[in-house]
Amino acid sequence: MSKKIISLVLLVSLQLASGAFAQIKPNSYAVSSAHELATEAGLSIMAQGGNAYDAAVAVSAALAVVEPASSGIGGGGFWLLQSHDDSLSVMIDGREVAPGAAHRDMYLDEEGNVNRDLAVNGGLAAGIPGAPAGWVYIAENYGTLPLSVLLAPAIDLAANGFPADEKYVTLLGMREEVMNRWPETAAIFMPQGSVPEVGDLIVQTDLANTLRAIVENGHDGFYKGEVAELLVEGTRAVGGIWTMEDLANYTVKERTPITTTYKGYELITAPPPSSGGIAIAQMLNLIEAYDIDQMSAVERTHLLSEAMRRAYRDRALYLGDTDFVDVPIDLLLSKDYAAGMRTNLRLDKATPSSMLADDPDIWPEGNNTTHFSLIDAEGNMVSATLTVNLAYGAAYVPPGTGVLLNNEMDDFSAKPGAPNAFGLVGFEANAIEPYKRMLSSMSPTIVRSPERVAVIGTPGGSRIITMVFLGLLDFIDGHGPDSWVSVPRFHHQYLPDQIFIEPDSMSAEDVAALEALGHTVEEGSRTWGNMHGVMWDLETNQMEAAHDPRWSSGGAEVVPVKR
Ligand code: GLY
Repeated sequence: MSKKIISLVLLVSLQLASGAFAQIKPNSYAVSSAHELATEAGLSIMAQGGNAYDAAVAVSAALAVVEPASSGIGGGGFWLLQSHDDSLSVMIDGREVAPGAAHRDMYLDEEGNVNRDLAVNGGLAAGIPGAPAGWVYIAENYGTLPLSVLLAPAIDLAANGFPADEKYVTLLGMREEVMNRWPETAAIFMPQGSVPEVGDLIVQTDLANTLRAIVENGHDGFYKGEVAELLVEGTRAVGGIWTMEDLANYTVKERTPITTTYKGYELITAPPPSSGGIAIAQMLNLIEAYDIDQMSAVERTHLLSEAMRRAYRDRALYLGDTDFVDVPIDLLLSKDYAAGMRTNLRLDKATPSSMLADDPDIWPEGNNTTHFSLIDAEGNMVSATLTVNLAYGAAYVPPGTGVLLNNEMDDFSAKPGAPNAFGLVGFEANAIEPYKRMLSSMSPTIVRSPERVAVIGTPGGSRIITMVFLGLLDFIDGHGPDSWVSVPRFHHQYLPDQIFIEPDSMSAEDVAALEALGHTVEEGSRTWGNMHGVMWDLETNQMEAAHDPRWSSGGAEVVPVKR
């Protein structure tokens, strides 16, 4: 980061920390997550005196049980922790890592083509999980309550069951065929032998026992001993390459968040191995030279799409795990670089992505992962995005563990320029290497001014970044979380060279006007994302929480506190 930007960020932070923001204490606490039972878990922890970080552990573990399609104990995630007084600002990186025996060509067949089945289904698709390490690390370093309390709601939900909801059923329908390859796994999620009805009870006895092992032995309860042995044995039985050493060596990392400023707001967001924070900062830097408030809907969509195109180009070319590759973060975040990006941007014409690089033939997909936002009664905040990658991850549970494996290895670039399941391309920076973290789009974010704070994020694969971008612009436009989570979504990811729009989200005239500028507009058959946001208005000292209306199972609640 240039000295000028560092000073500006510090100045804004100091002003916020020393001004009205630091003085006020909320008169409530709030949680918004993808499942009302996980939201309840977080609220119950805060009702027992736990802080936001305690609540984040409870919500994460509960989501692992009741929303297995999206995140879980066999997956990973990023938890952005921000204290009210700025004494804490850190992202806990519980991203999965490649196993020690992984190598860059492990998914290529004899002709050099990517074997998509190996990359997303079964043992070889799974990275070494980071979620349980993240829970334990947060509890031990930032929480105040023991794991026996924090994991109690999740253990109860796993042992006694929870009713399948619409999302569980819909996404399982998409993975049923693969899951049926492994009858013991299918028996957990489809106890009656087929995709359950909404309301059917799902009991996960082995998962409850694995959670109990974590209560008893902390990090080692998962990464060493009996659970680890079953994980390695079960993964290797279906083509995996995990070893006991891989599990024993797993550690979370503390990362310094990406910060930037936009129109008087400070943004605190996810650093690598997420691509999200850098891409969001780049897009904001690029658009800040324009008066977007004066633009028509078409002009604004065009400009934002051009910003998205350029940020995703840089994502493909430069971003990867900074423990393994040099990422030019300071350069990418600089306002001068954004000025350079604007030089080939025209307001009257789309820039073909082929003018920026090659254009492989790809197809995007993805509507999974999970996000929750919460603020406690001290004003501590957590924005967390967690994942097993595609719906129900690798669709395989090593017998006896209850641990549904992720298929996060597909977030690596299996072959330079070849698309992954989200249609994202990548090159050397995101090539597979042993113990490297695969590049992510997860973008847990906090945006604040002296008057208002937003905790925001969403699942949605490659589209996470643009959803958070649109959501935070809506917040900066003055709206509350009900509005951010509902805004119609559009998305450009450089390749394929198209603006994707949600069904019925744009008039035919506006589509025609964008096409006249040179864009290809692709209307999807389904909506995407599942955004969860909490806002704290410092002027009124009120909180608001909202869950995405696109799915019915979300839970968003504000609880008043007496002082
Ligand atoms: N697995 C989705 C992501 O991390 O971006």
